[in-house]
Amino acid sequence: QRKYRADYAVPAYLVDTVDLDFDIRDDHTTVRAVYAVRRNPESTATQQWQLDGREMRLVSVAIDDRELAENEYELRDDALLINNPPEQFTLTIENSIDPEHNLSLEGFYRSGDILCSQCEANGFSRITYFPDRPDVMARYTTRISADAKRYPVLLANGNCVDSGALDGGRHYAVFEDPFDKPCYLFAIVAGDLGMIRDSYTTGSGRNVDLRLYTEHGNEDQCDHAMASLKQAMAWDEDTYGLEYDLDSYVTVAVGSFNMGAMENKGLNVFNTACIFARADTATDADFALVRDVVAHEYFHNYTGNRVTCRDWFQLSLKEGLTVYREHQFAIDQGSPGVTRIRQVRTMREIQFPEDGGPRAHPVRPESYVEMNNFYTITVYEKGAEVIHMIAQMAGRDAFIEAVCHYLDKHDGQAVTIEDFAVAMEESTGLDLGQFRRWYAQAGTPRVRVATSFDDGQLALTLSQHTPATPGQSDKVDFDIPVEIALFDGEGQPAREPEVLRLTETQQTWTFDGFSTEPTVSALRGFTAPVRLEYEQSDAALARLMAHDSDPVCRWDAAQALYLKTLVADVAARRESAAPVEAPGLLFDAIATLLDDPPQDRELLAEMLTLPSEAMIGEQFDAIDVFAIDAARTALKQAIAHRFAARFESLADDHAARDAYAFNVEEAGRRRVFALALDYLAAIDAPGIAARAASLYDAADNMTDRMAALETLRDMDDPERDRVLDDFAQVWADYPLVMDKWLRLQAMTRRDDSVERVRTLLADERFDFTNPNRIRALLGGFARGNRPGFHRADGAGHALVADEILRLDALNPQLAAALAGILAPWRRHVASQADGMYAALERLSAAELSDNTREIVDAGLERSG
Ligand code: ARG
Ligand code: ZN
Repeated sequence: QRKYRADYAVPAYLVDTVDLDFDIRDDHTTVRAVYAVRRNPESTATQQWQLDGREMRLVSVAIDDRELAENEYELRDDALLINNPPEQFTLTIENSIDPEHNLSLEGFYRSGDILCSQCEANGFSRITYFPDRPDVMARYTTRISADAKRYPVLLANGNCVDSGALDGGRHYAVFEDPFDKPCYLFAIVAGDLGMIRDSYTTGSGRNVDLRLYTEHGNEDQCDHAMASLKQAMAWDEDTYGLEYDLDSYVTVAVGSFNMGAMENKGLNVFNTACIFARADTATDADFALVRDVVAHEYFHNYTGNRVTCRDWFQLSLKEGLTVYREHQFAIDQGSPGVTRIRQVRTMREIQFPEDGGPRAHPVRPESYVEMNNFYTITVYEKGAEVIHMIAQMAGRDAFIEAVCHYLDKHDGQAVTIEDFAVAMEESTGLDLGQFRRWYAQAGTPRVRVATSFDDGQLALTLSQHTPATPGQSDKVDFDIPVEIALFDGEGQPAREPEVLRLTETQQTWTFDGFSTEPTVSALRGFTAPVRLEYEQSDAALARLMAHDSDPVCRWDAAQALYLKTLVADVAARRESAAPVEAPGLLFDAIATLLDDPPQDRELLAEMLTLPSEAMIGEQFDAIDVFAIDAARTALKQAIAHRFAARFESLADDHAARDAYAFNVEEAGRRRVFALALDYLAAIDAPGIAARAASLYDAADNMTDRMAALETLRDMDDPERDRVLDDFAQVWADYPLVMDKWLRLQAMTRRDDSVERVRTLLADERFDFTNPNRIRALLGGFARGNRPGFHRADGAGHALVADEILRLDALNPQLAAALAGILAPWRRHVASQADGMYAALERLSAAELSDNTREIVDAGLERSG
């Protein structure tokens, strides 16, 4: 059941219209579907027409109103095949589904009081029989009838064209979506919902009705999402000239959702975690997440919905481009440097490991078993970086023009990444021949920088090498844009930034006219998703850290300086040698930074934040979680000891003065304050627990409250328990806030954290059917508590394997995502790898969903 990109065949039949009728009853829902079907003139397939469908009961099937006899069709577990259909006909299907017991959160299902749908990638085939592939596009009409008391609000894509009362306390509504769409963009919602409403007038004067629905009582957590939507609508008009194309834009926030959100045409369904944001319940990071996900789904209306994907191998066509647009939007909301740094961090800490592990795959995969396993950081974020490179090569204006050309040329079509590349070339004049390899080759290229200086001339040599990835042992050269700048000994610009294009295995550039050797600032703004290998001296790094005009490189210089010490110290600890201490130059560089901090407080905080455990792990072939933890803690303590007084005054200077506001200055101030506390906590500075506790008590917002909790997290102090208990009491009725409580405890470094997580799994505040709870507790533990997860006795791995097995029977998508944490065992030292491998083998021996099986097989290197 593995599918290959090369096997694409056009659909045998086309569907022009889809008429759906949902009759919602307490114990089941009946779906009646009527399709206007005709043979696809481009197809040569004959005899049987396959419609996908699973987990449903077929009631009847008719062609042109004549019910089919049993020998006229074939019914399988996952499909309905019609024998010898006519050239053109009306197909009527009646089937019954059970949303109440659908815990997969795919298709039509219940989340709390709300019935809702999730169809991407293949959820529509859990609703009714249909060719569940994005290149079959049709005009949809949806009629919904349900009990009027239980489900006062009925919603589907498009405009409501009719509604009214029915006998027996029931009512109905009919929706028409004027745009052709693939079935993955279909959505239906029924429930007793609260709503906030606003409106937006487009540049050409269309008035758009904006509605955001959620379970009653949550309306006051939705204002930031609504404001973000309007910001996104304005941004897409100002930047791309793209105006919204329907009279209403409806969003529904549900508590049980497998991912962040879904861009269904005119009717987005969101995870509440990506909508709710109120000062006292959400952190600055949550506010930014809501803003960016709301924008992302809105941007899909063009890049995804108006122009969609031909098949799921092309997923990055819409996701890479939309993430890129979301990134640019976020950058335009202020603090561009720090926003870019976060994007870079995501690539290095999450995407690079995926690209270097058993699940490495190209941005455009060649094959898959379960498509839902390919909504990956590679398809999304690396896909966005590929677009970012094109945009830089073209220049921003030419790139925007090219995107508009692509959207015009393919409006209403389901197309490929190749179609996109051609449109880019046509409009920009760029030659993307070799560049296309970014879509086809997996793995993170390593770009080595070497310099020599002689007689006033700097020779700069770049070379590239991409390690083998599963199924791709021989790599060819990428086309890599590397922006560089040169600085003199005082850190003043010695040459304007310029983009070098590395297209061969090795190339050398020379720069003349220097009296002393200039310092190279390379890969400015992260011009390409590569690993830079450049051994710069401590002095050069300190210079860049103090003076580089590119915030990414400035931050990166600090990271490189920290990493030098950390890597050496981890290696020493591995060999039980004496720990390696940080050089004086590192402390001098920090002192310089503190004396002359950047304007942007968040940049200061980023520069003072040590590389994460994930980032340190990336420096090694074999990751030793415990040595990394020890080295990172030691360096943090060394810095905290040296600058304790400075951190005290940083905390004083950055304490809250005014009421909470989500903006760049205030968020930056809070970050610096939290960072200062964190350093002070690392050395158990006098009074730190009391200080954190009083921050908790006085805070008017969740950002400060979480900063206090994180400071206290690993402390053995009565204040810690008092504050945690208080938190649980105050926020008991706010599941998303309780997720923070669960996550914090899962991340707490203690010897019995495995047992602690087991206890929380049985706590009534935990709910095994809700993905947000699972991600908080199990994700928080496995990703955020590496020492606990990799505990030497294997109990952490075993715990996660137990829960994957239990979850797989309910929600395979989520179970597979968790299994992904165990897969890269080969990246770890033997003592940790063994437990991961054993857990994978135990999973493999059990009966598994296709989703989880695919991940486990990849981990055990048994896929092929
Ligand atoms: N298209 C959605 C988004 O990016 C995500 C859908 C994820 N679907 C999945 N099966 N994982 O915004
Ligand atoms: Zn998306």
